[in-house]
Amino acid sequence: MTQEADNIYPEFARMQNRAVKQTQLRQTARLFWLYGLSGSGKSTLANALERALTAEGYVIKLLDGDNVRSGINRDLGFSDADRTENIRRIAEVSKLFLDAGIIVIASFITPLRSLRESVVAINGADDTRLIYTECDFETCAKRDVKGLYAKAAAGGLKQFTGKDSAFETPADDSSDWRVRTDKRGVLASVAELLEKIRPLLKHPIGTPRNPLP
Ligand code: ADX
Repeated sequence: MTQEADNIYPEFARMQNRAVKQTQLRQTARLFWLYGLSGSGKSTLANALERALTAEGYVIKLLDGDNVRSGINRDLGFSDADRTENIRRIAEVSKLFLDAGIIVIASFITPLRSLRESVVAINGADDTRLIYTECDFETCAKRDVKGLYAKAAAGGLKQFTGKDSAFETPADDSSDWRVRTDKRGVLASVAELLEKIRPLLKHPIGTPRNPLP
């Protein structure tokens, strides 16, 4: 704890609380955190989920690795310490959105189990669902949407996840949801996820006010 922290007085009591915001939006805010190797399909699924849920009237905030790393986290690299700080900040930002009643879809490699556990520790197990986009290294390397696998193979990119920086798959008994992006198409995966997501977003007062025409 820094000395400065002694002089900080968080002020939550007078703020309109999360319940008020959720009633206003007629939704229950939750965090859906997609994780997996670069090129495993996290952003594609996140975008498709955002589009589908927005069309149904839900208010969503999408947080994505490449975007966040060019803004709030542009001071961070890919060492273990920087990845830990990257995930900590995103998890805290997610919490701010949940407090505003907004549903968050996050997509970050989140390579270590300890990092995924920290997301749940910050946002709570009730509100958080971890979703593993399962795709083996070779398939991701073959897709190589951003050309990063070729760059890493040629030695031009250090600490690359799955090559010289670890990626830990979920434990066999983990309760994380899994999507096999190497075996199923985007539409089927999105449909399957939506079935599981919708019940978690229900609000006692009813459905969201503004579904798109
Ligand atoms: S995380 O490990 O800290 O969760 P994050 O999801 O934010 O990573 O960022 C990953 C994105 O950064 C990738 O989608 C990729 O475009 C880019 N990137 C650049 N360098 C690396 C690297 N060494 N390892 C993995 N991704 C990298």
